[in-house]
Amino acid sequence: MKTRKGIILAGGSGTRLYPVTLGISKQILPIYDKPMIYYPLSVLMLAGIREIAVITTPQDQEQFKRTLSDGSQWGINLTYIEQPSPDGLAQAYILAEDFLAGAASAMVLGDNVFFGHGLPKLLEEANFNSSGGTVFGYRVADPERYGVVDFDADGKVRGITEKPKVPQSNYAVTGLYFLDGTASVRARGVSPSSRGELEITSLLESYLHDGELNVQQMGRGYAWLDTGTHDSLLDAGNFVRTLEKRQGLQTGSPDEVAYSQGWISSETLRERGMRYHKNSYGRHLVELLEG
Ligand code: DAU
Repeated sequence: MKTRKGIILAGGSGTRLYPVTLGISKQILPIYDKPMIYYPLSVLMLAGIREIAVITTPQDQEQFKRTLSDGSQWGINLTYIEQPSPDGLAQAYILAEDFLAGAASAMVLGDNVFFGHGLPKLLEEANFNSSGGTVFGYRVADPERYGVVDFDADGKVRGITEKPKVPQSNYAVTGLYFLDGTASVRARGVSPSSRGELEITSLLESYLHDGELNVQQMGRGYAWLDTGTHDSLLDAGNFVRTLEKRQGLQTGSPDEVAYSQGWISSETLRERGMRYHKNSYGRHLVELLEG
């Protein structure tokens, strides 16, 4: 079996955050002390994934290369792929077809932030299923803004609808998709929606139709944060700040995950920590070595 590969979808124009995103990609904006993309990247790394494609707009690719380089500092391999125009989330699987070369994948949206004690186990289970797909349902107060899960009377998933006017449940599908090696072929079969996008929900419907989609609940012990508006971005930053100040721990640190996975040595971690010694991100890395 081929090893699962990762995709971070970090394109789009970020118009809801204008004028902030006129000159910088949304997914590089800070969430407290780290660039936004560190958080979804850490999730893929926690899932044990080391081959990752970062999909960006052509004009923003350089910013991402400066921010993340080739990944070797974390013992991973990053490949950069351009998305010429934001034609939908499912298009990522077509753009990444050569990169995936038939391997299963985990795709995460570059603006999705997850936090939860049970995350490693949840990811491990999703990773384990090499056929079909696994997505995560998360209860939200405003489901009409997301892909929404429609359950039948027995709690079986009947459908997934993108931004329904009348949501059939309060369960949104988060931006983390574990799909098998058929995703690119299936994505090619997706027709554009009325808003002209290759919708991720249409791709998921294809799995569902074949009885191959597992919707896993991400329960109330998890935080899935929104970063799409000025207010929610600030809230996400405050959430991370509160956690880190209170616990004296980091969340969303690729350096820490790389070290805990055994992908970088203690010398490398120390060097990385010293490089950022003027702030708590760097000091925390050095503290990890001190136990
Ligand atoms: O966050 C989870 C939700 O993400 C899901 O529940 C929805 O089913 C899914 O469609 C998506 O909804 P959004 O309204 O958040 O999609 P948005 O168009 O805002 O795109 C999400 C991110 O992906 C955003 O940071 C930009 C990036 N993107 C988007 C499109 C359409 C791309 O990189 N390329 C694209 O073509």
